[in-house]
Amino acid sequence: MKTVLVSGARPNFMKIAPVVRAFRERDYRDFVIVHTGQHYDYAMSQVFFEELGLPEPDHCLNAGSGSHAEQTGKIMVEFEKVCREIQPDVIVVVGDVNSTLACSIVGKKLCCRVAHVEAGLRSRDLSMPEEINRIVTDAIADICFASEKSGVANLRAEGKSDGQVHFVGNVMIDTLHYQLAALQQRAPLTGKRSNGNYAVVTLHRPSNVDDAVVLGGILDALAEIASVLPVKFPVHPRTSRRLEECRMLERIEGSGIELMPPLSYKDFLALWKDASVVLTDSGGLQEETTALGIPCLTLRTSTERPVTVTEGTNVLVGNRRDDILRAFAACGDERRGSPRIPEMWDGQAAGRIADILLKDA
Ligand code: UD1
Repeated sequence: MKTVLVSGARPNFMKIAPVVRAFRERDYRDFVIVHTGQHYDYAMSQVFFEELGLPEPDHCLNAGSGSHAEQTGKIMVEFEKVCREIQPDVIVVVGDVNSTLACSIVGKKLCCRVAHVEAGLRSRDLSMPEEINRIVTDAIADICFASEKSGVANLRAEGKSDGQVHFVGNVMIDTLHYQLAALQQRAPLTGKRSNGNYAVVTLHRPSNVDDAVVLGGILDALAEIASVLPVKFPVHPRTSRRLEECRMLERIEGSGIELMPPLSYKDFLALWKDASVVLTDSGGLQEETTALGIPCLTLRTSTERPVTVTEGTNVLVGNRRDDILRAFAACGDERRGSPRIPEMWDGQAAGRIADILLKDA
């Protein structure tokens, strides 16, 4: 059995790393890594390969940026050429980015089996490109690996059979456990999380950064928070461009918001793991903060990861200044009860995935 592992954008790399490790532990070598090039800056791509111990990709498609159609189309054309050359049996796609969608369509039309890691998540918000990517990918996937129970329920409701849906847990948390252990070896912890007394912010969703009024309101809230708690803000390239275009950098100067370039996996983990609170619109960070019990204010009104709200530390806050400030004021409240670690977020998800994939190999 020949397998292709698809990776393309920053949140993909930490999801394929544990699968590669699990394949190697099982002495399975007949796989290739295809990098679509959706993300291409060193800080958005290569540094993750280096830090996560991923081998160099076997094929790079160099798709780059563009409109959704341009990016998705370019990945499809190039990926089809690679698939024709290497004739894979299984294509493994992860997450919900354009690369996930593009490669699953190509793979399925070439009659490969498509396996989707992180299947079944639904925000019910079709204005998010990721929601479209998730729905289409799952509709054609042969094997669906769900990270939380809501994913299983959604897939079953959409007509997937029992045999196609596997509740395996969360590969992102595999990487978190693995890298946290490495970090702790370098600087032994006392067993208790130190409180860094700062907030960490990430922001990149078009719905939050593309509209100047919305972005301005969020920055107003962050500036107010920064007057009582230092705010550390590694800035995604899309957001960085918008801050410049909207001339908002001057507003941030002197506000106590510390802007920094995108961080590597380890540098970012070292930062957020000790934060008092995280404010974000990322999908993965909602899960990671839940896994470490750190309060997370999500600057969206929906989440495709409901277990982070029902069991974890996540609160959906939206993107309006007053709502963000109200949620920030309340986030120290003990009333929220004790967060729980969601089922199967035990650092072993990739092993379960490999066992299922390799059963018939
Ligand atoms: C993509 C994913 C999103 C994911 C996010 C993580 C889709 C539809 N969106 O959004 O789900 O949460 O990645 O980062 O797949 N850019 C660079 N260097 C890079 C990559 C991008 O400068 O290496 C800039 C370009 O100006 C580009 C913009 O960022 O136009 C947006 O990149 P793109 O990949 O289109 O979407 P993201 O916002 O990163």
